[in-house]
Amino acid sequence: MTIAVIGSHGQLGTDLMRVLGDDVVGLTHADIEITEPVSIAVQLDKHSPDTVINTAAYNLVDKAEEEPEAAFNSNAFGPLHLARACAARDITLVHVSTDYVFGQDTHRTTPYIEDDAPGPVSVYGTSKLAGEHLVIAACPKSFIVRTCGLYGNPTSLGKGNFVRTMLRLAQDCDELSIVDDQHCTPTSTADLATAMATLIRTDSYGLYHCTNTGVTTWCGLASAIFKITGLDVTVKPITSNDFGAPARRPSYSVLNCDCIMSVTGVTMPHWRAALASYLADV
Ligand SMILES: NC(=O)c1ccc[n+]([C@@H]2O[C@H](COP(=O)([O-])OP(=O)(O)OC[C@H]3O[C@@H](n4cnc5c(N)ncnc54)[C@H](OP(=O)(O)O)[C@@H]3O)[C@@H](O)[C@H]2O)c1
Repeated sequence: MTIAVIGSHGQLGTDLMRVLGDDVVGLTHADIEITEPVSIAVQLDKHSPDTVINTAAYNLVDKAEEEPEAAFNSNAFGPLHLARACAARDITLVHVSTDYVFGQDTHRTTPYIEDDAPGPVSVYGTSKLAGEHLVIAACPKSFIVRTCGLYGNPTSLGKGNFVRTMLRLAQDCDELSIVDDQHCTPTSTADLATAMATLIRTDSYGLYHCTNTGVTTWCGLASAIFKITGLDVTVKPITSNDFGAPARRPSYSVLNCDCIMSVTGVTMPHWRAALASYLADV
């Protein structure tokens, strides 16, 4: 089985390359442009993969509010081009999506299952939801994996992640104000890649939620980072309104991951254990 990983130098792509081992071809942004059908065709015909995993995305949640075309090109039309190209070649497509397809239900307090109606509150979330629909419509052999708050060790240190940002800020600050009203489950790309590597060996196509387990907020995550590392930083809880980011985020976007755990037999670790393991490495 030959697997092509698109976005192979990104956070998740780097861990997928490590976990998948020998049968894998990595495609960086220099190799493939998912918004261009010709570029996709050239790479698929060159490598003839059985499975394509798309981790490429426009991930700048705030900037997407002012650049909806760029977000939709990479997060909706790019995946559609990929889905069409994969379907035409009988290739399985694995596409990664986000908990930010939810958020309109501001009273939510229980984890979302795959059958729950989505309702994004940002351009980014809407563009990712469109990508999900287009992939499912165009490629019969497809997996969609929604995840949340990723942190990993990318080959190309592009935009970073929340954990690395906290470690960097701790070098200069002894107090940080962090949003405490967005409940979710930050997820290690190492754990996500392990679950995905098992899922794609099945033919149980469809939509899956996959995160670490448990619930926290960005404030809770920051406090845990400083506790585990012993860094002396006081974390002050603030509201999303206080922070004033351009894009709205869900107040609650915890995902129920029972389906993927039952199909793969993989148990996703608690977010605190995953974080401790990540911090032991960085
Ligand atoms: N990061 C999160 O917190 C988070 C949360 C939930 C879901 N997700 C989803 O999880 C997936 C993986 O996220 P990640 O954090 O691993 O992303 P990442 O680190 O930004 O990696 C994405 C990779 O894709 C490449 N890429 C971007 N646009 C491309 C395009 N149009 N054509 C080809 N390659 C392109 C990027 O290359 P360049 O950097 O060179 O452009 C980068 O190497 C994405 O689908 C994302 O939406 C992420």
